[in-house]
Amino acid sequence: MNSTVDKHIDGVISAELLKQLAYNEKMAELGRISAGIVHELNAPLSVITSAAQMILRETEVPEFVREMVARISSEAQRLSHMTRGLLTFGRQEEESGETDVNLAIDFVLDFLTYEAARRGVTALRSLDYHLPFVRMDGNMLKQILLNLIMNSLQAMEEGGGKLLVESIATTGGEIGIVIADTGPGIPEDALAKIFQPYFTTKRPGEGTGLGLFVTKTLVENMGGRIEVKSKLGEGTTFRVTFKAEEEGS
Ligand SMILES: Nc1ncnc2c1ncn2[C@@H]1O[C@H](COP(=O)(O)OP(=O)(O)O)[C@@H](O)[C@H]1O
Ligand SMILES: [Mg+2]
Repeated sequence: MNSTVDKHIDGVISAELLKQLAYNEKMAELGRISAGIVHELNAPLSVITSAAQMILRETEVPEFVREMVARISSEAQRLSHMTRGLLTFGRQEEESGETDVNLAIDFVLDFLTYEAARRGVTALRSLDYHLPFVRMDGNMLKQILLNLIMNSLQAMEEGGGKLLVESIATTGGEIGIVIADTGPGIPEDALAKIFQPYFTTKRPGEGTGLGLFVTKTLVENMGGRIEVKSKLGEGTTFRVTFKAEEEGS
């Protein structure tokens, strides 16, 4: 591991690699700081929620006040749901056990609501609620979804579009997750390289070119596979497939 890094630092791409490592380190540090801030948000949010609940329990509250306080309460609950989700997602230790794939999709899509809205992208989900649970690290699944969905949103940076995330239980005892966008599509020569480390068409700071490499490696380490179909001018579809749990195991 160190020897490869040393070799690169001595070699031609040293400056580039060093820039990349420095950037990654900055982002990791930023992540750790944000975790603290997110944690700090929890206390005031629960004060807001419980104060709102106390007001709502009063009998002499005018109807419009009741409505406003109910909104304050539900927004505060939504935020605290999100901060708790973020804290669990940020943890590094394994979250293995029975994972609800639909919940992971919901979390990532809710988390990216703003990212979709600011690009004018309509995000739709079509979830199969009969999906069996899968034994896997839930945080890794979220990381996989986050990269695939973020890639789609970034591809639809201009002009908006549609994103559909689907979960499907196949007859062959597998679980499929499909992420389809109406973005510009991927040219054939690029399609052959997208899973290679450091392949990116984005500007520095917007992409590292490591997302799909990491995603594919995670999927395969979890016993799954990833496929892509893309058509220029029409869009791109990624499909991730995992084995479902054996009945009773
Ligand atoms: N949904 C998509 N639509 C169009 N191009 C995509 C899509 N997903 C990935 N790509 C292409 O694959 C490249 C590699 O993606 P990735 O490995 O996640 O790295 P990054 O997002 O940092 O560029 C992207 O730069 C982009 O050119
Ligand atoms: Mg990416």
